[in-house]
Amino acid sequence: MTDDAVLPETPAGPPARGVFISFEGGDGVGKSTQIRLLADWLTAQGREVVATREPGGTTLGLELRAAVLHGDHVSARTEALLYATDRSHHVATVVRPALARGAVVLTDRYLDSSVAYQGDGRALGAQEVERLSLWATEGLLPRLTVLLDLDPTVGLARLTASPDRLERAGAEFHARTRRAFLERAAGDPVRWLVVDASRSVEEIAAQVRARVEALLARTDAADAVADLVVEPAPAPAAHPTGASR
Ligand code: TYD
Repeated sequence: MTDDAVLPETPAGPPARGVFISFEGGDGVGKSTQIRLLADWLTAQGREVVATREPGGTTLGLELRAAVLHGDHVSARTEALLYATDRSHHVATVVRPALARGAVVLTDRYLDSSVAYQGDGRALGAQEVERLSLWATEGLLPRLTVLLDLDPTVGLARLTASPDRLERAGAEFHARTRRAFLERAAGDPVRWLVVDASRSVEEIAAQVRARVEALLARTDAADAVADLVVEPAPAPAAHPTGASR
């Protein structure tokens, strides 16, 4: 393989400056509308915004999305691996490079979807599925995860297109994924914001904006402090005794 064939990747490690935010929730809860509204607001503030999604945020991801959502039956483990493959490539080629530039990255679904849908929905085990995604992404977690919470029967009834493999998975499956999202959010309120997705679009957008504004104020302040940390000047070379005489 020549260097030309190497994909543009950014090495793992703490993302420089950028802020990574994910949106989660059941099908039909309104994630894409809220991402669009937040992206418009952030862009108006002069921020670079990258709005993306899983599965399907890359060219390879679009093929994986078609396979996992509209292809033949696959086993639960194959399904989990397809989502993890999509995520790994998405993080390496889209998310990390954008964070390294200082962008705000908004993703429609991330690792918590796998934990809820494959870990709990498909009963593969939340911890194992989480470990798989953490391995795939070299440990990248969002700074903020917005959970749009809604009764799945209401969300699924809002969908207009013919249902994909996951949307056809049944009421009990979707009830399990909702519970999984809520339990995960309750366990980490620093990362999660839970929003009642039955409220109006504008009310939800205002709640999300308030939380994002507070997060950005904190990260901007931390960046400003980092800029003030000056490298210590090199110690003066020891005066060579008698060298100047
Ligand atoms: P999404 O793109 O939100 O659906 P749509 O655009 O059709 O509204 O997500 C596609 C489906 O994939 C959704 O039912 C949730 C499921 N999914 C998982 O099961 N695991 C995952 O890791 C991800 C990212 C999505």
